Order: sequence, then structure tokens, then C-alpha cells
Amino acid sequence: MKIPLLDLKPEYEFLKKDIDKQLKSCLSSQQWVLGPKVKEFERKAAKYLGINYAVGVASGTDALLIGLRALALSLKKKEFFNKEDEIITTPFSFVATAEAIVRSGAKPVFVDIDPDSFNIDPEKIKKAITKNTVGIIPVHLYGKACRMKEIKKIAKANKLFIIEDCAQSFGTSFKGKKTGSLGDLGAFSFFPSKNLGGFGDGGLITAKTKKYADLIKVLRNHGQTAQYKADYCGYNSRLDSIQAAILLAKLKHIDKFNKKRIQIAQKYNNAFQNISQIQTSDLLDTRYSIRDTNFSHVYHLYTIKLPAKIRPKFISYLNSKGISARSYYPVSLDKMKAFKTAKVPYKLKNTNKVMKEVVSLPIYPFMDNRKVEYVINQVNNFFKNNQSIN
Ligand SMILES: Cc1ncc(COP(=O)(O)O)c(C=O)c1O
Repeated sequence: MKIPLLDLKPEYEFLKKDIDKQLKSCLSSQQWVLGPKVKEFERKAAKYLGINYAVGVASGTDALLIGLRALALSLKKKEFFNKEDEIITTPFSFVATAEAIVRSGAKPVFVDIDPDSFNIDPEKIKKAITKNTVGIIPVHLYGKACRMKEIKKIAKANKLFIIEDCAQSFGTSFKGKKTGSLGDLGAFSFFPSKNLGGFGDGGLITAKTKKYADLIKVLRNHGQTAQYKADYCGYNSRLDSIQAAILLAKLKHIDKFNKKRIQIAQKYNNAFQNISQIQTSDLLDTRYSIRDTNFSHVYHLYTIKLPAKIRPKFISYLNSKGISARSYYPVSLDKMKAFKTAKVPYKLKNTNKVMKEVVSLPIYPFMDNRKVEYVINQVNNFFKNNQSIN
């Protein structure tokens, strides 16, 4: 049996009718740039996320970058941040999080993660604040919400902005509020592998205030406040109408799809709880039942930890059985040349350990029971055959 980390084909089969319908109406409108489909998607996404404004952009990376540019313009009255301006984030994320900070002119400050949730540790944020700190970018990694209550408290006390990196957390809630509605801005990615994914690149910025939404709309369209009147140096970064049409077809099913992921994650968690070498992905927050839509984890990735010394063998074993298993992320951002100007105020003890221990297993809404059982059996077999490993 071959089981990829993610198989989008059965999802497409399920959605085909809806997608075809959406595409047909998009094709007949022939309005490709910021047409009616983009507006409709922005409106429906904002409603779903419980936020006043949502602005479509070309990617999740652009969502972070344009969000930061809007904050620099609004808070600092500057087009870009200075390299003294410090933005605190996690080193345990995809490259884009830190890349956007550097491209906005600011300096990334990497602080350690909580080893159980894999997310930024609010206590470490507190310790890293200096007179130059301007903001925080928490990343809801793998689809699990960060400890936003504490992060918001820290931001408020120190007058810092928050952009939530929601690239992996479309549909995740924190205490009944969707991620992307908790900070000043939220940045979403519609890269095809994401929980809400397009058929190419796409992104979205959520904003509480009209002031930010308007500025973001200007920046995504070459910084023009009117035709041929560029007030800022902006971007060509609009969400394509075709992507918006596809996303509209998928948005209707997002809760159902996320719920399927949660059910698979729970099966994995139950099956692995007796394997002492495995630490399962931080469990679904017990405050929420899977019957309601307030999922505090939407399992964009299902990630476990196991001792670093057995990880390569574990991954090779699963691969040899046709199961894709990978480490997200095997290298933390502070180790990358591109971010050599970043600041690391304290040792990243947990990050350094966790990046050697994580393994993500296949999970997707249309993963059938047979496949889930096969993964579980093969994981069990690995540990049965390697009983001396601990
Ligand atoms: C945590 C995180 N931030 C940002 C991004 C960037 O999104 P995109 O690939 O749409 O530019 C991604 C995904 O790729 C991501 O996983």
C-alpha cells in the first residue's frame, strides 16, 4: 500500500461538481484580477473567521510581508522597519515567517518553543523584549493554536503588534475565536497542501480595522491609492480570481474536512499511547468537543516526537512500507544563512532538541480507515521489532 503524507485526489473527486460550477462562472465573467469571485471569497472568509476584514493576496508569504509593511506604515509612519526594529518569532517554522520579517526591514528575534505544543513559549517572549521590540509573530504550527491569551497580554503590556501566522491553521480556534481574529492581523496561506488550499499559490490577510484593510489593499496593488498614483512602493500581489473560485468551493466544507483530520489524529493518539518511545502530538484541547466547531487543533500536520537516535530508522522503515513520513522541520530558522542577522537572545534548548525528534505522519480528510490502520500497524511493528530501542 502507498500512503502519501497528503492525497488531494479524493478531495478533488468529492468537490469536482462544486469546483466545476465555480470555475464555469469565473470563466464566463472573464474578470481575472480582483473580480467578483475574489470579493465574494474575501467576504465569506471574513465571516467564517469572525473578523471584520479579509484581503486576498498572492501567497502566505506575501500576507506576512504586506501585513508587516502595513504595520510599519501605520505605526511607524515608515515604508519599512529599520534593522533595529525587533520582531519576536519562533525559529521552529517554515522559512517564510522569518523571511517576511527580514524583507520588511526588521530583525527577527528567535525565542524558544514549548516542547509539547511545538509553539512559541510566551514566557520566552517576555524575556526577549527590549526597547527595540515592535511586534510578535506567533505561528500556529501544524494547526495548533498558540497560547494567545498570554501572548496578547504581553503585547498589550509592551505596546507590541501581533501578526498571527495562520498558514497552517485555517479553522483553528482559541477559546472560541478563530485564529486570525486574535491579533492585529492574521496571515493565511492557500498553498495547495494547506487545510484550505487552492490550485496554486494564494494568501489572505485578516484585519480588525478598516484602516489596516485599506492600507493592505493599496499595498497589494502596487501601492496605488488611485490609478497611476503610487503613494508607496507596493506589490503585484492579488489573489487570482480562479483561486478564489476554487477556495469558495472548498470553504463550505472546511469544518467537515478539519473534523475528519481530528478524528484521524485521535485514532493515532489512541493507538500510540502505549508506545513509550512516542510522544503524541499535543492532544486536542479537552475544553472543546469535536462536535462543536471550536477546534483548537486542525492537524494540518500530525506530528509525533520520538528519540532522536531512532528517528532515521523509523522514517526509513515507514518509507520502506510505502508510508510517507517526514520531519517538519529538520532545521530551525536560526541555523539558516539567510537569517544570520537575526538575534537569538537565549539558548534555543527545546527547539534544538525537538527538531531532531519530530516526525509527521500521513493525514488528510479523505484518508480512509484502512490506510489509517495500516499506518498504525506499521508503527506498532516497528517498535515490536525494535524492543531494545528506548
Ligand atoms: C508557517 C508558514 N508560514 C508561512 C508560509 C508561507 O505561505 P506560502 O507558501 O503561501 O507563501 C507557510 C507555508 O508554506 C507556512 O507553513
